[in-house]
Amino acid sequence: MNDIPELSLQNVRIANPEHVTEVIQNMIRDGQNKLQVVADFDRTLSKYTHRGQICSTCHNVLEEGHVLPEFYKDEARALRDHYFPIEMNPKLTIEEKIPVMVEWWTKAHDLLSKCHITKDDVRIMVENSTARLRDGCTWFFDQLQATDIPLLIFSAGIGDVIIEVIKHQATLHDNMKVVSNYLEYDDQGKMTGFQDEMIHVYNKNEGAIHDSDYFQKLEQRNNVILMGDSLGDLHMADRGVQNKLKIGFLNVKVEESLELYMKKYDIVILEDETLNVVNAILRKVL
Ligand code: TMP
Repeated sequence: MNDIPELSLQNVRIANPEHVTEVIQNMIRDGQNKLQVVADFDRTLSKYTHRGQICSTCHNVLEEGHVLPEFYKDEARALRDHYFPIEMNPKLTIEEKIPVMVEWWTKAHDLLSKCHITKDDVRIMVENSTARLRDGCTWFFDQLQATDIPLLIFSAGIGDVIIEVIKHQATLHDNMKVVSNYLEYDDQGKMTGFQDEMIHVYNKNEGAIHDSDYFQKLEQRNNVILMGDSLGDLHMADRGVQNKLKIGFLNVKVEESLELYMKKYDIVILEDETLNVVNAILRKVL
């Protein structure tokens, strides 16, 4: 770990340094052909704050600017005010939360479907939004592409928005796959609904990957770097993994959540606007 000075920074917390050292050493030994990366999008690859100002998530992008009508923005915010505290309530079990999350996503998707946006609308909203990839994200994407390492971006947000953010602020390479909720359009290019089964915060696991042989095809890549910002992200790559390095970004309620995050994630990065720690690990492993 001494070889990676970023791991000793004040805002980087590691409960079990021996374990982290061992996993990184194994990844260095096994090399790039054994590695794959699985990452959440909002507040993991994208920033929570940019120079101190809170940034948009991919849902929030739709509530900024003048493209969508006021009734959409009001209702989307009212839904979030009601459901987000339930998502975050530590007193409820995941089993209790799942039907409530399905209800939220269903109502939010129905609401957006009433607005008949186009692909161009999505592009314009993203270009004018405050959604920002973390500093160092372009290097991260380019390096994974250059070394042929598959990157799965797994999000309960909106796939079309994620793709536009990446295209606008970095490059969408062919080693990258974005599994998320995608809009469906009619012949006139107007949105009519969503494709496939919904992905919400608590079904982000192999079952939600519609192309479900994704991990099977990558079976020989049994070293995984997993990156997330919520506890729901921990199950994004549960299958046949030999060495897993779980990196968690803790952006809010740091004091309240640190102990739990340190139990669940191998490395916890506090209130950071960059991917510097992940990139430093990658530089060592590749
Ligand atoms: P994820 O980005 O970690 O996969 O989770 C998606 C987040 O999006 C989750 O915290 C709830 C939030 N969300 C909204 O902000 N607005 C919405 O309309 C919906 C359905 C979810």
